[in-house]
Amino acid sequence: MNPLHLRSAGTSLVLSLDSGEAEVIHWGADLGETLPDLVLLGEPVAHSAIDTRVPAGLLPQASSSWRGRPALRGHRSVDGVPGFDFSARLRVTDASAQGSTAVVVQSDADAGITVTSTLTLHPGGLLELRHTVRNDGASDFTLDELATVLPIGADATELLDLTGRWCRERHPQRSPLHQGTWVRSGRHGRTGHDSSLLFAAGTAGFGNRHGKVWATHLAWSGNHEQFADSLADGRTMIGGSELLGPAEVVLGAGAEYSTPALFAAYSESGLDGISEAFYSWFRNRPHHVLPTPAANAGAGKARPVVLNTWEAVYFDHNLDTLIELADSAADLGVERFVLDDGWFRGRRDDRAGLGDWYIDETLWPNGLTPLIDAVTSRGMEFGLWVEPEMINLDSDTARAHPDWIVGPSALAHKDGGRLPMEWRNQHIIDLVNPEAWQYIFNRIHALLSENNISYLKWDQNRDLLEHGHQGRPSVHAQTLAAYRLFDELRAAHPGVEIESCSSGGARVDLGILERTDRIWASDCNDALERQTIQRWTGLVVPPELVGGHVGPTTSHTTARTHDLSFRAITALFGHFGMEWDVRQVTGTEREELKRFIGLYKEHRGLIHSGTMVRADLSDPTLMLHGVVAAPDTSREEAGATLEPGTTAALFALVSTGTSFAEQIGRVAIPGLAPDQQFRVDAIFPTADDADYAHTFTQVQPPLWLKGGAEASGRFFAEVGLAMPNLNPEHAVVLKFTAV
Ligand code: DGJ
Repeated sequence: MNPLHLRSAGTSLVLSLDSGEAEVIHWGADLGETLPDLVLLGEPVAHSAIDTRVPAGLLPQASSSWRGRPALRGHRSVDGVPGFDFSARLRVTDASAQGSTAVVVQSDADAGITVTSTLTLHPGGLLELRHTVRNDGASDFTLDELATVLPIGADATELLDLTGRWCRERHPQRSPLHQGTWVRSGRHGRTGHDSSLLFAAGTAGFGNRHGKVWATHLAWSGNHEQFADSLADGRTMIGGSELLGPAEVVLGAGAEYSTPALFAAYSESGLDGISEAFYSWFRNRPHHVLPTPAANAGAGKARPVVLNTWEAVYFDHNLDTLIELADSAADLGVERFVLDDGWFRGRRDDRAGLGDWYIDETLWPNGLTPLIDAVTSRGMEFGLWVEPEMINLDSDTARAHPDWIVGPSALAHKDGGRLPMEWRNQHIIDLVNPEAWQYIFNRIHALLSENNISYLKWDQNRDLLEHGHQGRPSVHAQTLAAYRLFDELRAAHPGVEIESCSSGGARVDLGILERTDRIWASDCNDALERQTIQRWTGLVVPPELVGGHVGPTTSHTTARTHDLSFRAITALFGHFGMEWDVRQVTGTEREELKRFIGLYKEHRGLIHSGTMVRADLSDPTLMLHGVVAAPDTSREEAGATLEPGTTAALFALVSTGTSFAEQIGRVAIPGLAPDQQFRVDAIFPTADDADYAHTFTQVQPPLWLKGGAEASGRFFAEVGLAMPNLNPEHAVVLKFTAV
């Protein structure tokens, strides 16, 4: 059979069907239209091994003598005896490619198993892979695992994955690729603060903009595993799977299970190439970022400036205070005002109320309308915090429906069933129970129907531990039920945007992002911590979907104090907002904050559509990141890519600590069109800004800092720019204008 060949944006994926099973024989650089004779790739047979070539299948399997981690694990119960059909022999029964999608069906008639695999190579080079297994037999098939994996190049020698905790999400860790299996397991029942948003392998020392990289992301918000499986025969697979509990998925006759999608990208230009593939996919989705009424001229689908009340007032909800806050926010230029936790029945602190999704009559005798009117009459949208998947024992809902609370026991809690341990005093509502699901849907639906709410901050503040439905593991079903809740509420209220928050950034994945419009990256608003969190979140998620807020002068989660400019420059490169009692911000500080809000509004069109650039710098205390405008292809013939006067890029040079060097010296600025001339200006802080004196430490600044300077993109990339010396935990914003 002819191989199937998908090509896009410099990437090729070749699926050979010659061995009888589907095998990805190449996922990497584009091979051009014509494939060579694939006999080139037939490995020899080794000593003391299987007597024929062992394919590295799309579904690696022991029936082909693959001795690594198999894709499909499960067994059938016959007359109540488990363990049969434990090793399927899946062979291709149908395969086709149309446009950018290939569909392969592999079956084992004797074992009664069929797996259909769909591979789509999207226009920007992002690959989407998913399998569906069907039980063709008459008896139950217990599925233990169905993994999605891909082979990586033999020249990949290093692994990169991400880990973290509350207030320190998505930090990178590197390791050499050894033989054996490196597994990142997520048993939180949610994505998890430590979940590896990206799981990558690459050539030695691969960096932001150099080296080959193969990277995967598992689009799932429940238990999961991501892994690299490196065999003694020299081949390595990377990928992931849903981590299923004992007998969590039992397929009756004819029943199916679909894996979460595995998204995968290949890059020859380091991690920036991986981000480009993900960003392109996000931005081409028809539902990517709703246009908002507050849309800013020139920005297209503008992301509104946010004021969130959490760190401003916490649970201290009072109409007069909140109207004062709304007044102050409107004066600053805020466009969306979000009322956080504390507005519903019985919710005076974090010990009670979850589940009772009614406006608290004692706090809000006239409902939320007076506040919503105050907000909207000042030209802002109104947003509301909810946590629909959770329940406090101290709530009317829990008292009325103790059987709706999730636990490991076959007995309901009301009949003496054991509950999991409490986490922030709360439990989980069993969305697999249709009555509980319907109650939650009805309540959120009513709130959205009865109030002028444009935005939900949807929180999820605990792990799903010992999570069962009627005594059997149910994270899988709960995750799908939660997805359905999002989907049906969105369908009923298409104009409402939803933010995915989970104790900060514990639910950041492409499964949840298919049904939400931004993520809250972390509860940490400390700009220094945020620089790292946002850099690595931005590896996959584009900045328009990543909430970043200017917090109080002294961070509530780390007690560090930062200048306003450092906090604001950090929030600028995301979806900008504030989480601060801005009534207290006065005088020059207020003017400076207004300047930043203006800067964000002026440049959000670029920041939320351009190409992300992360420089590779030798000084570990410096970060240079920026966004470069997409070239204007209609001008290519004239040898230029951007109209003179257009803002071509915005970069931030960030100091995260004291440098070993006396001077920062020249810093190369990559990513600008090499043959075009640009003018560079430092636009923040300027000599007139309050933070100027704190930001720089030098007797004499570089000459260009005052009046700007011009050079070609090639010059900036190859020679660089003499940078002003920055104090630690300060930053400067550079603007490049096409000449
Ligand atoms: C955790 C979130 O991450 C915070 O931003 C805030 O919304 C609190 N929950 C409210 O309880």
